[in-house]
Amino acid sequence: MNLSESTTVLSAPLLLPNGLILPNRLVKAATSELLADTHNRATQAHETLYDTWARGCPGLLLTGNVQIDLRHLEHPGNVVIQGKQNPERLARLRAWSGAAKRHGSQVWMQLSHAGRQTNRWVNPNPVAPSAVPLNIPGVEFGTPVAMSDAEIRELITRFAQAAVVARETGFDGVQLHAAHGYLISQFLSPRANLRDDEWGGNLSQRSRFLLETVRAVRSAVGTDFPVAVKLNSADFQRGGFTFEECQTVGGWTRLASISSKFRVVPTNSRRLRALKDRNRFSILTLVTPRGSRKRISRSSHRTCGGG
Ligand SMILES: Cc1cc2nc3c(=O)[nH]c(=O)nc-3n(C[C@H](O)[C@H](O)[C@H](O)COP(=O)(O)O)c2cc1C
Repeated sequence: MNLSESTTVLSAPLLLPNGLILPNRLVKAATSELLADTHNRATQAHETLYDTWARGCPGLLLTGNVQIDLRHLEHPGNVVIQGKQNPERLARLRAWSGAAKRHGSQVWMQLSHAGRQTNRWVNPNPVAPSAVPLNIPGVEFGTPVAMSDAEIRELITRFAQAAVVARETGFDGVQLHAAHGYLISQFLSPRANLRDDEWGGNLSQRSRFLLETVRAVRSAVGTDFPVAVKLNSADFQRGGFTFEECQTVGGWTRLASISSKFRVVPTNSRRLRALKDRNRFSILTLVTPRGSRKRISRSSHRTCGGG
């Protein structure tokens, strides 16, 4: 593929199986902003940052990790969505998503829980699948405590509640952070998860937390709202989560309703070719849920349109 062909592919809209369309295929990966105020609320700085990124017209902006538990942060500057959000917190989230979407991009909120990878100044005893401490030179993590079954189920509910808040405040989708050693990936790792109940053991049991979270989020937000998962291809540690396991878990997340409802259409698929052959704006009218139709059509004509 030459440069001009690659540019054409990158700037073409991407139809998602639930009918939503990304205006192009450029995605800004999740990058922790550390811009929350002392109450872990979104701030004007989030608006300024995302407005600036949005001017570059990526099809999709993924936010940095928004935490679902105030006691477990990747960093004290994280935004947190825990429990019912008051009007002020909701307004700040709306302003954030509004800035990100101002020029036609979509914005999906990344949801996370740091688990044992919580600095000990934030929490001296963070929860984790098992009480296996994390030793990374130069960083002081708390001493982890294994979660009870009830605590695990409560966190699954919190992921779902946070996803609903994301939807209500104008975010176009969510991404569950199941990578980089945070809580969901701790459950996946045989080195961090030594449980002998239904949440640990073989791969299927180590994946249960992720899959139950996917199901809870999907059921809370409905079928037309993108739910993505960020998975590491491996732990890159002896005895850790392997590449083959990652492939298997990827398939299971599809079954748990990520991709069966929300599979990205491959570039060279017949469906996409058919789309390209026709007027894509009339196709948008046919397949896009009512709320997003106008926005996406408009953005495709404006600054962040496809090729
Ligand atoms: C400053 C910074 C902050 C990041 N914050 C997050 C984050 O909040 N969530 C996440 O999943 N990844 C985070 N990442 C990782 C990136 O999303 C990405 O996975 C990583 O940079 C590897 O992608 P690359 O190979 O394209 O650089 C961060 C990376 C950087 C450099």
